[in-house]
Amino acid sequence: MEGYKKIAIVGASGVLGKPLVKQLARAGYELTLISRDSAKIKEAFGLLDVKFKEAEADDAQALREAFTGIDAVVSVVGSLALASQLSYIDAAVEAGVQRFIPSEFGCDTQAPYLYGSRFVSNADWMK
Ligand SMILES: NC(=O)c1ccc[n+]([C@@H]2O[C@H](COP(=O)([O-])OP(=O)(O)OC[C@H]3O[C@@H](n4cnc5c(N)ncnc54)[C@H](OP(=O)(O)O)[C@@H]3O)[C@@H](O)[C@H]2O)c1
Repeated sequence: MEGYKKIAIVGASGVLGKPLVKQLARAGYELTLISRDSAKIKEAFGLLDVKFKEAEADDAQALREAFTGIDAVVSVVGSLALASQLSYIDAAVEAGVQRFIPSEFGCDTQAPYLYGSRFVSNADWMK
């Protein structure tokens, strides 16, 4: 993450998200945590010096606003939400974010039970 200072995290309230937020905060990054439920995310991280933004995965305008001024987005949404990342990627590009790290940490992104035929991969979508 060298060269990036302002990081937005989507899915921060999840299993991987919680330790990720703590590590990146400890390392000195300026974090914006994006959740569909800001009360939930504030309860988890209210003691940290981070920003909170609420946005549904299909709310392009809210996502663009949340990503404006952000250097890099890290997505740690759960496996069943991977397809929703396509709208996060589009909003990040439109907001001028330099880097998007998709949530593909070990799951089979081609698994039909996750997406049917619509979803190819976040990596392909970003090209
Ligand atoms: N957990 C593990 O043991 C494990 C192991 C290996 C790999 N992984 C991989 O790591 C990544 C994250 O997994 P995780 O277990 O940390 O995820 P998770 O806890 O199941 O979910 C993370 C966050 O995703 C958001 N989310 C859930 N459903 C959503 C939806 N329909 N639309 C948009 N956002 C939604 C939620 O955030 P908000 O409600 O705040 O919006 C949730 O807190 C995945 O790629 C997973 O395959 C996980």
